[in-house]
Amino acid sequence: MTAREKPKTLWVGRWGFILAATGSAVGLGNIWKFPYMTGEYGGGAFVLVYLVCILAIGIPIMMAEISFGRRGRGSPIDAIRRLAQESGRSSVWSLFGWMAMLCGFMILSFYVVVAGWSVSYLWKAVSGGLAGSSVEEMAEIFAANNANPWNLGFWSTLVTLATMLIVGKGVQEGIEKSVRWMMPGMVLILGIMIVYGMFSGGFGDAVNFLFAFEIGKLSSEGLLAAMGQAFFTLSLASGAILTYGSYLSDDKSIARTTFSVAFFDTLVALMAGLAIFPIIFASGMNPDSGPGLIFMSLPLAFQQMPLGTLLEIAFFIMLTLAALTS
Ligand code: ALA
Repeated sequence: MTAREKPKTLWVGRWGFILAATGSAVGLGNIWKFPYMTGEYGGGAFVLVYLVCILAIGIPIMMAEISFGRRGRGSPIDAIRRLAQESGRSSVWSLFGWMAMLCGFMILSFYVVVAGWSVSYLWKAVSGGLAGSSVEEMAEIFAANNANPWNLGFWSTLVTLATMLIVGKGVQEGIEKSVRWMMPGMVLILGIMIVYGMFSGGFGDAVNFLFAFEIGKLSSEGLLAAMGQAFFTLSLASGAILTYGSYLSDDKSIARTTFSVAFFDTLVALMAGLAIFPIIFASGMNPDSGPGLIFMSLPLAFQQMPLGTLLEIAFFIMLTLAALTS
C-alpha cells in the first residue's frame, strides 16, 4: 500500500468544494429526472418522501462519504482499503469501492445519452427546429430524436469527449471554474421560468400537484423511487462524492458543506418542478409523460415567451453544463 498523500490540488476557498460538489449533485437528476418522476408517482406524496429521504438518509451518507474520502485521500477503492487496513480490518472492504465505481459507470452509461438529448435540443433550439411546434409535434420530435441510434450515438459521444476534456484539466481549472458561473445561471433561468409560470394559468395546479400530500397516492414503488432519487440526485454511492471528499482540505466542516450541497440541490429540484409543471398543466399535457417531459414541455413555453428563443438556447446550454459538471 502506498503512503497516504495529500492530493496535489485541493478545492480552493470556502466555496470551492461546495460549488464543485453542488455541481456534481445538481444535474439531470434535478431538472430532468425529478420532475418526470414526480409526475409518474403522483406529485406531493413523492415529493414529501423524497425530502424525508434527503434529510434522513442522503445527508448522513454524504457526510460519511466525504469523511471516507478526506481520510483515505484516494479513489474510492484506495481510500476504503487504506481505512480498513488502518483500522486493522480486511482489505476486502475495498470491494465497496469497486461496487461504487461500477455504479458510477452504470449511471454514466445512460447519463451521457440523456446529456446527449440536451445537446441535440440545444442544436434544435439554435437551428429553429422546435419553433412553432404544437404539443403533439413536440412529442413527435422527441420520439424521432430517440428513434435514430446514430443521432443518439453522435451527441452522447460529443458529451463524453467534453467530459474527458474537463476532467483532464483537473479539479480547479476544469470542474471548479465551470461550476462557478453555471449554477447562478441555472437558478436565474429557472427563476424566470417560474415567474412566467405564475402567469401561465397552470401555477395553482402545479403548486397543488407538487405540494398537496395525498396518502392514497403513495405506492411502495413510489417510496423506493423517491429513495433512489435521493441517492441519485446527491451523487451518492457512486464514488463521486467520496472522490470529491479526497480533495477537501482538513480545515473545512464536513457537516456545513454537506448541508449546503443538499440545500442547493433540493432548491434546484423544487425550482425545476415549479418551472415545469405550470407549463404542463397550462398546455394540457400529461404530468406522467415520462422521460421526455422537460423536452416536450419547456420548448412549448419558450416559444410563447418574449425573447423565448434566447432563453431556450440559454436553458439547454445550462442543462448541458449541469450534466457535464455531474
Ligand atoms: N447527481 C447527479 C444528478 O442529479 C447525478 O444529475
